[in-house]
Amino acid sequence: MLASSSSTRPAIPLAPVLSASSFRRAASAPARTVLDAGSYRLVTSGRVAIALALRELGIQAGDTVLVPAYHSPSMIPPVLWREATPVFYRVGPDARVDLDDLAARIDAGTRAVMVTHYFGFPQDIAPIRALCDARGIALVEDCAHAFIGEHAGQPLGSWGDYAIASSMKFFPIYEGGALVSKTRSLDKVRVHSAGAGFEAKALLNSLERGFAYGRLPGVQAALWLPLRAKSALWGMLKRGRKTPAKSLAPDSSDSSFNFDPRWLDKRSSLFARSVLKLASPARIQALRRSHYARLDTALRGLPGVRPLHARLPDGACPWVFPLLADDPEALCARLKAAGVPLTRFGYPLWGGMDADTCPNAAMLSRRVLSLPCHQELREAEVDWLVQAVRKAVLA
Ligand SMILES: Cc1ncc(COP(=O)(O)O)c(C=O)c1O
Repeated sequence: MLASSSSTRPAIPLAPVLSASSFRRAASAPARTVLDAGSYRLVTSGRVAIALALRELGIQAGDTVLVPAYHSPSMIPPVLWREATPVFYRVGPDARVDLDDLAARIDAGTRAVMVTHYFGFPQDIAPIRALCDARGIALVEDCAHAFIGEHAGQPLGSWGDYAIASSMKFFPIYEGGALVSKTRSLDKVRVHSAGAGFEAKALLNSLERGFAYGRLPGVQAALWLPLRAKSALWGMLKRGRKTPAKSLAPDSSDSSFNFDPRWLDKRSSLFARSVLKLASPARIQALRRSHYARLDTALRGLPGVRPLHARLPDGACPWVFPLLADDPEALCARLKAAGVPLTRFGYPLWGGMDADTCPNAAMLSRRVLSLPCHQELREAEVDWLVQAVRKAVLA
C-alpha cells in the first residue's frame, strides 16, 4: 500500500482512481445508471450539462430558476449564463426537498426547478414531478451525486425533463458529465472533440492519478520513460511561451466552481467514454454500498456524530458517506491531521444567496463531512479509514 509522508499512513484517494480492477465484472445483479433513463450526450462536466438543459428549455433573461438552497456553487453560473435569476428553495434537515417551500416560491417568472439527489440518496421525486406538471414548469433532475441507482423501479434521471450527471464522481476519469432526457429530443445538442491535446490530457491525467496512488505499477514502469520525456517537453514548451498556454481541460476538472461556455459543445474524451462503457455499474454499486455499510456500522452511535441518513435505500449507490458532526471544525482538523481524505459538499454555498434563506442548508453546509466510499478503495484502505475516523471522533 502506498504510504504518504507519515510512514504508516496510507494515501487514500478521495475519488476513484484507475486500477487493474477498474474493469472487473460484478457477480451481483446489473445496476442501472442515469444513461439508462433516456437519450444522452456525454460532455465534460455536470455544470455544462446544466447549462445545456437550461439552453434547451429556452431559459432567458427575466426568467427565474428554482435552485436548492443546499447546493454546489458550480450549479449557479449556468443559470447566470442564461441571464436568468436563481431563486433558492428550502431543504429539510436531512436534505429532503421542502415541497411546500418549493411550491410557495413558484411565480409567473419561474421556468424551471433543479432538484438534487444529494450523496446518491433519491429524493421523493414523484410529487415534485407532479408539482412541476401542475404549475407548468420544467424539472432538471440533478444526478451529479447519483450516476448509478434506481428509485421506484426506474433509473434516477427518469423524472426530469432533463437530467444531468457528473461522471467524474463515479468513474476513474479526469472529466465527464452527461445530459440525459427521457422525453425530449437531444438532436439539437451537438458535441465534438475538444482536440488532441485534451484527449491526451484526459488519458494521461487518469493514468498519472492511478500511479500516484500506487495503482497500475506495471503500466507505470512501462511508461516511465515516455512520461518523463513528455514532462520535460511540456516544461520546455511552457518556459518558451510568451503568453500563458490555453488550458487543455475545463476548470471543472480542477476543483473549481467556474463555468466556461467554451466547453458547451465539447464531447467528453474518448478515454472517459470508453471507461463508461467498460466499467461495470453493478461492481461500482456493490462496492460503494459495501464500503458505505462498513463506515455506517463503525460510526453509528459514536458521540458527537451521526450518519446523515438512517439507512441507505435499496437501489441507491452512494457518492460518499455523509457524516453529520456536532463540532465539524474540530473533527475536520483531526481527520485532516490523521490523513483522512474528506470533502465538504456545499461548503461554501453560493455567495449571492441570502444566508437566512434556509437554516437547514446553512447547517448542512457547515456540519456534513463526507468520507470516500468509492469502488477503488482497497479493503486495507477501508480498514484504515474506519479506524482512523473512529479514533478522530473519539479523541
Ligand atoms: C449537486 C451538484 N450538481 C452539479 C454539480 C456540477 O458538476 P460538475 O462538477 O461535474 O460540473 C456538482 C459538482 O460538484 C454537484 O455537487
